[in-house]
Amino acid sequence: MEEPTAPRSQSSASPPSQLVPIVEVASEPQERVSTGLPELDILLGGGLVRGSVVLVAGEPGVGKSTIVSQAAIGLSQAGPVVYVSAEESPAQVALRMARLGGPPANLFVTDETRVEEMVPHLLQGHVALVDSIQTVRTDALESAQGSVSQVRESAGRLQRIAKDNGISVLLIGHVTKEGAIAGPRVLEHLVDVVLYFEGERGVPYRVLRATKNRFGATDEVALFEMGEAGLRPVENPSAALLAERAEGAPGSMVMPVIEGSRCLLAEVQALCAPSFLTNPRRVFTGVEYNRMTIVIAVMEKRLGLRMGAQDVFVNIAGGIRVEEPAADLCALLAAVSSMKDTPIASDLVAFGEVGLAGELRSVAHADRRLREAARMGFRTALIPTAQKVSSDSGLRVIRAADVRGAVSAILAASA
Ligand code: TYD
Ligand code: MG
Repeated sequence: MEEPTAPRSQSSASPPSQLVPIVEVASEPQERVSTGLPELDILLGGGLVRGSVVLVAGEPGVGKSTIVSQAAIGLSQAGPVVYVSAEESPAQVALRMARLGGPPANLFVTDETRVEEMVPHLLQGHVALVDSIQTVRTDALESAQGSVSQVRESAGRLQRIAKDNGISVLLIGHVTKEGAIAGPRVLEHLVDVVLYFEGERGVPYRVLRATKNRFGATDEVALFEMGEAGLRPVENPSAALLAERAEGAPGSMVMPVIEGSRCLLAEVQALCAPSFLTNPRRVFTGVEYNRMTIVIAVMEKRLGLRMGAQDVFVNIAGGIRVEEPAADLCALLAAVSSMKDTPIASDLVAFGEVGLAGELRSVAHADRRLREAARMGFRTALIPTAQKVSSDSGLRVIRAADVRGAVSAILAASA
């Protein structure tokens, strides 16, 4: 059951609505402000739109407070910025700002947690940061801070303040690995832009991904590296991700993946080891669980490999997450390489979707993938027979129609 929410004001006094021909509706140009971080500006569609509400979501410790603090420093160039830190003390915020090269004179901080008390503070700036939405509450509801209804209603009120006053609001939201119930998912429909922050513990790389954007492209990504003075954009993501590659080791292979408007190379690592368990282990990091289970079933059924007796571990190096079907083939070949304890030649890449019958299916953006592999010094690419390629990348291209053909081609090319 939903708790009752406060009634919306003005409903009785408002004038009757009008139907207007769309050609007479002037499309207002969006006013945008730079965050001072070019990568973040691109992700937002060209800077922060005035009066927009942006949700920055991610697991605790991933770097949400860091990125919004860096953005606050940039945004304060264009006017006062208000940082509502309901989670950390103003002193902690100041300490982080100092570490990041600030704090700028135009930045104000409050530890207020009630939306009603926050309003006069918010009206002082052109941008407000609310860190985090789960620690904010509104007096309109009785329910506990952090509950779904509190998070939703508080965010709704902040959104109306943003729209009514032309203030941009960045809401920070925590997600847990289990997908917390009062998490940012309940806010996605309410905000204009959703940015998800991804990264693995102990790995410096962070992917910031736009999953919703009313003012720009979605599925755009930016790659950052967490350092001593905050997040820095990674200049050459492919080189960074392949820097510690296990060249010449069985179970390792490189694939070109598409992330938004860019292509980058990522290393897939697989380890197949005889299992002593009735239910062998399946531990996949960075790849989609369901797709990988299909790949393993195809290995069993179409390649005749005894996967039921194997623990299988698959990992994408560098802490990035790959969710496209184009990764199937490379994951399969890495797993076969581990099973057979035979390394794959280090100048080879592969991509393609694996179908249930073991057939290889073509994927989007083949030319971009081949060009990126060529740029990074790879020589040969294994791709599906049906895959259309329109320009010459300089790579030697070998083709296979199914997983059986792919495995023999890879073994021949690696011998
Ligand atoms: P933080 O932004 O506080 O994460 P979140 O708000 O998502 O919970 O930062 C998380 C980690 O980043 C923390 O362990 C400290 C580290 N860090 C750096 O390595 N360099 C820096 O310059 C800063 C500000 C933080
Ligand atoms: Mg934080």
